[in-house]
Amino acid sequence: MNFHIMTLFPEMIENAMAVSITGRAVKAGHISVHAVNIRDYAANKHNRVDDYPYGGGAGMVMQAEPVYRCYLDIMAQCSENGIDKKIKVIYLSPQGKVFSQQMAQQYAEEDNLIFLCGHYEGIDERVLEEIVTDYVSIGDYVLTGGELPALVMMDTISRLVPGVLNNDMSAQTESFSEYLLEYPQYTRPEEWNGKSVPPVLLSGNHKLLAEWYREQSLIRTASRRPDLLEKASLSEEERAFVCSIAEGARNYN
Ligand code: ADE
Repeated sequence: MNFHIMTLFPEMIENAMAVSITGRAVKAGHISVHAVNIRDYAANKHNRVDDYPYGGGAGMVMQAEPVYRCYLDIMAQCSENGIDKKIKVIYLSPQGKVFSQQMAQQYAEEDNLIFLCGHYEGIDERVLEEIVTDYVSIGDYVLTGGELPALVMMDTISRLVPGVLNNDMSAQTESFSEYLLEYPQYTRPEEWNGKSVPPVLLSGNHKLLAEWYREQSLIRTASRRPDLLEKASLSEEERAFVCSIAEGARNYN
């Protein structure tokens, strides 16, 4: 997976992606991070990339031309490297489709992704019309720029790229992949602060363990994120079980 990021703050992207699991994935060659400074494509001697909005109003707008030239340069480099497939261009914006694990899974199938990070009051609409294929938001709140949302997306997508996580299973069995939250985890010591690890975890009985994991996932989801249960695939018995938890929660409130 090759990530190309058009940004005014390349060091923000590079620094964040260079640590922890993504940093290791870069070193191992599972992913690459190519942050390109839009300012390098400014056509004036002051390196300005923003201007006043037509029609007036607060704030500045990023100009079309530097963004377009930056994009063309990335595309030229990709085709020099023999990439001829169409590359998705994701514009991070609160007006986009809200990012989800399912979207991350689809993006993880791509070999290349381009992220466009805006700043100020946004980017001239004409270049967005010209190059953007996907508008994506990370949630219903407004950030100062697209870098953090791009990092959120790249982090989520990276861990789905084969080889990035040590354990191939952990990307599949965790929260959201089946619209169920993950069961609670414990590690040594066996007793901490007067609290013991649930005895079933020490039993070594795989059937009991699997049942306990499933039951805990259902309890967690029903009590913390009941909205997810609509989409989860549950047996009739499980459906009755989560309904009784939700009922209990309603009576308690
Ligand atoms: N830019 C500013 N806020 C954003 C958000 N919530 N998601 C994506 N991009 C953004």
